[in-house]
Amino acid sequence: MDELSKQDIIKLFHDHVSSGKADMFLSNDMDFVFGKRQGIYMWDLDGEKRLINCHSNGGVFNLGHRNPDIINTLVSSLDELDIGNHHLMSKSRALLAKRLSELMPEDITYTVFGVGGGESIDLAIKIARAYTGRPKIISAKGGYHGHTGFALAAGDEKYRKPFGLMAPGFVQVPFNDIAALDKSMDCETAGVIFETIPATLGIYVPDRDYFKKVRELCDRNGAVMIIDEVQTGLGRTGRLWGIEHFNVAPDIIVIGKGLSGGIYPITATCFKEKLETVLKEDPFIHVSTFGGAEAGCSIALKVLEQSSQQPFLDHVNAMARMFEHGFEQLKARYSKLIVSFRQLGLMMGVKMANELCGPVMTKACYDNGILSIYANNDTSVSQLMPPLIITGQETREVLERLDKAFGQVNELLGL
Ligand SMILES: Cc1ncc(COP(=O)(O)O)c(C=O)c1O
Repeated sequence: MDELSKQDIIKLFHDHVSSGKADMFLSNDMDFVFGKRQGIYMWDLDGEKRLINCHSNGGVFNLGHRNPDIINTLVSSLDELDIGNHHLMSKSRALLAKRLSELMPEDITYTVFGVGGGESIDLAIKIARAYTGRPKIISAKGGYHGHTGFALAAGDEKYRKPFGLMAPGFVQVPFNDIAALDKSMDCETAGVIFETIPATLGIYVPDRDYFKKVRELCDRNGAVMIIDEVQTGLGRTGRLWGIEHFNVAPDIIVIGKGLSGGIYPITATCFKEKLETVLKEDPFIHVSTFGGAEAGCSIALKVLEQSSQQPFLDHVNAMARMFEHGFEQLKARYSKLIVSFRQLGLMMGVKMANELCGPVMTKACYDNGILSIYANNDTSVSQLMPPLIITGQETREVLERLDKAFGQVNELLGL
């Protein structure tokens, strides 16, 4: 296979994986095929183009590409372990769940592992419904929780529309609107699910008292509060969990992406002990063949060890301050283009003048050596999520490249 050229690979991808994606990228003059990768960098298959990864797959690459500690952990775990058996008791899963319970907000002491974020969101919703015996799930308009059954039903309408009838019982309200949530909640409400900072909605940082009020409404109505930390978890916001900024403890927290160390897929639904009752009577009512694969548990433990250390979080906050200062200057320079800089730690978004700006900025970033995508549910926002291990020098390089990209967008859109 080594003798295949990049063009051959593009054709194979087009003919056997996704003709739509291949056509879209080629028509935008973005013929990048993922080749070598290390740290914050990714190279084209032919080695000609290098991108700084400011997408990080939404947090998968929090610790960078091919982090040596993660690779060593996987390699040594393979001396003893494999996937394991999801029906049996397991030391790896027990130790990982114990560590999570130590690191999670109060009373969240149980964990069920999954393979993908959507699967773990589905379980959170199942638990809320089974625990309350009620059907209704409330989520945010423009939110995103994955493409599986209940996760899809909780997400924005546009991802569901082509696929016919959807699971009933799902209602959406505007994010960060406590009055709308209050109005929507009733004695049929099983649970409320929100991302701490909805990324697909444009890195929308809610008011500091929002989640406290969500908690109060859940308590008053007997509903389960579910927080999706798939993107915001594991140090992204400068604290281990994004929800810590809001001084509130939900009933369920879902994590994914970065828990994999970028190497081995593993996700988790972490919940309060009282909710475990729904899985107690029949502990096989929810299983996942690959969920909590033992080799993956070793990696997740390593990820937690690194991400929970204060010096690591201090570093994230220091880099976040550099970006904040850099953006003050960029905003002054491109005052008509940049409306605001949205940020909590290294979870960052740039709100721009109009809905054309995001897609145009994505291309300008690509042309300037940065992978950054626009927010699909608010295309005036560019997401900026570099690996958390980014250094000061690399941060300066990103800011310099963004400066050039903004300049090009400004010119192209005549702002
Ligand atoms: C906030 C959030 N929740 C859930 C998911 C679903 O995760 P997965 O793609 O692993 O199913 C995603 C994926 O992007 C996400 O961003």
